[in-house]
Amino acid sequence: MDKLVIHGGRPLRGEIVIGGSKNAVLPMMAAAMLAEGRYALSNVPRLKDVRTMARLVEGIGVSVTAEGRNLILENPGCRTWEAPYDLVKTMRASIYVLGPLLARYGRAKVSLPGGCAWGPRPVNLHIEGMRKLGADVAIKEGYIVATAGKLKGARILFDKSSVGATANILLAAVLARGTTRIENAAREPEIDALCDFLNRMGGRIAGMGTGHLEIEGVDSLRPVSAEVIPDRIETGTYLVAGHITGGDLTLRRTRPDHCVAVIEKLRESGADVDEGPDWIRVRSGGQIRPTHVVTVEYPGFPTDMQAQWLALMSLAAGTSTVTDTIFHDRFTHVAELQRLGADLTIDRNVCVVQGTDFLSGARVMSTDLRASASLVLAGLVARGRTDISRVYHLDRGYERIEEKLGSVGADIRRESEKTTPS
Ligand code: EPZ
Repeated sequence: MDKLVIHGGRPLRGEIVIGGSKNAVLPMMAAAMLAEGRYALSNVPRLKDVRTMARLVEGIGVSVTAEGRNLILENPGCRTWEAPYDLVKTMRASIYVLGPLLARYGRAKVSLPGGCAWGPRPVNLHIEGMRKLGADVAIKEGYIVATAGKLKGARILFDKSSVGATANILLAAVLARGTTRIENAAREPEIDALCDFLNRMGGRIAGMGTGHLEIEGVDSLRPVSAEVIPDRIETGTYLVAGHITGGDLTLRRTRPDHCVAVIEKLRESGADVDEGPDWIRVRSGGQIRPTHVVTVEYPGFPTDMQAQWLALMSLAAGTSTVTDTIFHDRFTHVAELQRLGADLTIDRNVCVVQGTDFLSGARVMSTDLRASASLVLAGLVARGRTDISRVYHLDRGYERIEEKLGSVGADIRRESEKTTPS
């Protein structure tokens, strides 16, 4: 297992190129199960979650070849209908194969994902949605076992907006007979990107970004090539890195219009932020003002930036609050940030942050992807040395984080935990 060793205190200056979005590419890879033939995806981030999805679709019969940042998927037809526990447990997005398998082959056996580091994450909306489309769905021995004849269009009203359930229903309804209407659909850019991808394959989806999606089912789809949109959470994380270190960072090949809420909060917290069509520059004098942040669905402040924001607010001049309305228990990073000297108090889904003058390096442990990112941010500014263990969480969603941060002046390196006990 690897760890990251950071010596904090260096302002970050320079340019970072943002990679393709993890959460956009995963459902696009699942979409390749919907039509036989060859797909070419470009701007694909080299991440562990992408490799996990590749293994999953390969197990189902789609071959996947990585050529630099391109991913070639060849679908000769499905070999099996099963997504096994061993893969699904490592990545919840594995459930994206449920919709395509049902739509294309009329059956699916997909392991239930189980909980995650910060608590239970139900998949009831995915299951209820498939039932509305006419599938028979049962839970047997930890698996979702589903069968269907031809799926039929239906009206699906989500009582909660869910990115994953919206994607899964899209992946199924695109080949259903008749029209499906999803009310309270997720409006995240990754959902728009999936709709665009499916439409290019020959799907008929309207209403992107409105919360009301209308999907007119088609008889068949065709394979296509597509470029993956930039990762807005990687972007947000590096914007915070620029501010927290009192630096001057320009992020290239990104989409400022996907990061509006984070940019607004950065300005409110004292950073200067400029933007162009595909770049964002953050400049900071090191003065961090306290803010009140509530995570909500897009276009609001993302839950995937909550942990990183807590790291920033730990050094603000005053008291801040951060409320997570999407995942109420997503606070595993709090205890680790406290080890670095942050003054944080949790009351249900609200974290009250009393800003301190400085953080101090310590040994801390990654618990999940974004929690780990918050520890890296805190480590970049903490006095002395911070060791972050279990870096594999970061490798799920940040490509070469130590190289990108190192290239703009951070003192950060990856070490094997076995060879360098500390
Ligand atoms: C997606 O997860 C992202 N993952 C998450 O990113 C992100 O945190 C989350 O959306 C919210 O933005 C991917 O895109 C692969 P949801 P997802 O279904 O789809 C409740 C990261 O760090 N819900 O939108 O699983 C749920 O409990 C990851 O990159 C149900 O009640 O999230 C939550 O409160 C982590 N029943 C809310 O909906 C369901 O069946 C939104 O969750 C499904 C969800």
